[in-house]
Amino acid sequence: MATWSNFSLQNSASPLMEQIIFFYDHTLIILVMITILVSYLMMSLFFNKYINRFMLEGQMIELIWTIIPAITLIFIALPSLRLLYLLDELNKPLITLKSIGHQWYWSYEYSDFNNIEFDSYMTPMNEMNKNNFRLLEVDNRIILPMNNQIQIMVTATDVIHSWTIPSLGVKVDANPGRLNQTNFFINRPGIFFGQCSEICGANHSFMPIVIESISIKNFINWINNYS
Ligand code: CUA
Repeated sequence: MATWSNFSLQNSASPLMEQIIFFYDHTLIILVMITILVSYLMMSLFFNKYINRFMLEGQMIELIWTIIPAITLIFIALPSLRLLYLLDELNKPLITLKSIGHQWYWSYEYSDFNNIEFDSYMTPMNEMNKNNFRLLEVDNRIILPMNNQIQIMVTATDVIHSWTIPSLGVKVDANPGRLNQTNFFINRPGIFFGQCSEICGANHSFMPIVIESISIKNFINWINNYS
């Protein structure tokens, strides 16, 4: 999760988030190279004394500085498209989780297993334990097995919310009257935090999402003992 002085992105908990981080680094390096080149060119333009009163055009240099940015854009666009299609690819999910946005809490349904349903409210400050994170802890966490393809169906009952978990690279809008789908694969155990990221009203900041990722054995155990 993000903590104080955490710069850049959170550590990934899924293979796709790892790819997103690689793409982010790749794009940032290109950006830095462009910034350095342009700054150098501007500096040398400001501080030189070369004057050519009759220069109106330079076909060759104009050709070069048109084509090079175009090629640079392709180097960003192609990996971006690859990621876009990878993120939407879903085959044989083991579990489908429904998450429904409400003002201002989430509710979840595990329709695969005798219709487990529960609401998930933020833990208020006066009920927090010493090891809880303020504004991030909930009363009922989502329990999911790691190393499995998981399908998520997202919708809402009142206004638009957004189901967002940075460490899994997931962000889906929850629209009333629509059913949106996404998927992820958690590759390690842990607790992963998210927040609503669609301005949905007064308590928008107070409807966090918590996923507890456990082994499949413990998950089956949890399903069997759920009452
Ligand atoms: Cu729900 Cu913002």
